[in-house]
Amino acid sequence: MIAPVVSLKGRDFIDLADLDRRQLRQLLDLAHEIKAGKWSKRPLQGRHIAMLFQKPSHRTRVSFEVGIARLGGSTTTLTENDVQLGVRETISDAAKVLDRYVDGVVARLRSHDDLVALARASEKPVINGLTDRSHPCQVLADLLTLEEVAGSLAGQRVVYIGDGNNMATSLIEASALTDITLTVVSPAGYEPPSAVIERARSIDSGTHTVTLTNEITNLDNATAIYTDVWTSMGQERDQESRRRAFMHYQVNQAVMDRAPGAIFMHCLPAHRGEEVTDEVIDGSRSVVFQQAENRLYAQMALMAQLFS
Ligand code: CP
Ligand code: NVA
Repeated sequence: MIAPVVSLKGRDFIDLADLDRRQLRQLLDLAHEIKAGKWSKRPLQGRHIAMLFQKPSHRTRVSFEVGIARLGGSTTTLTENDVQLGVRETISDAAKVLDRYVDGVVARLRSHDDLVALARASEKPVINGLTDRSHPCQVLADLLTLEEVAGSLAGQRVVYIGDGNNMATSLIEASALTDITLTVVSPAGYEPPSAVIERARSIDSGTHTVTLTNEITNLDNATAIYTDVWTSMGQERDQESRRRAFMHYQVNQAVMDRAPGAIFMHCLPAHRGEEVTDEVIDGSRSVVFQQAENRLYAQMALMAQLFS
């Protein structure tokens, strides 16, 4: 007998690796339904969500605010100067206070460890809105986009060209939970940490493989080329050394020409002229605004499952 899918109700959403394959499948199915207008419940009716941002945000903030409103809830958005986690009070004290006011927290924190500490101290669901280590909400939207474009995740060959940090982590975890084949191309010294690879392996019974390379090779049968900024939020001081390290990793038309069957993906914001050229991001194979749009539906599905 097949065991029922374990509910996500009341859980935190820190990483994709917290899900199993069937939970992820259910979440994506619901997101497609919501986008198609076939699901219109209001599980957040009468509920209030706090959003904490230690870094700037456009997509994450707006898509959560709109999604929460559409699900019947309301929000308070707090930026760096408001809460000052760990400065005005400890993370644990802040979590315990928020618990008394709100029904859940979306947090974009500089440090992943701080997010884990916040989630541990909070009795309410905590959702990762990006950390230095991962960005699972973005990749939920990316999976939705890949399914819309290709019909299925099976057989997708995604080549991520860029920094082995937060986007790479969540893409690696997604590939372990789906039938996507992933290659991560990064300059030497900017590869994903081995702990990320090990964790992905652990969620797929030790069989998961991701190809890690420093060379942009084997693009001919790629179905998606994905990139991200060379200098992430908080790394601005290293911008010049990063530009030098990544200068041969730009996704330009010559790279896209080597992948004739591939769409172009980017989490945004893009630093045009660095990791991607205008020609590629504005080109007919670019799905970047579809990815941004799908943040809304992916997160509505996520919150519907955490708060139903
Ligand atoms: N992709 C993404 O998370 O965008 P923001 O940083 O604007 O939220
Ligand atoms: N790697 C980028 C992702 C932005 C959505 C950053 O952390 O700034």
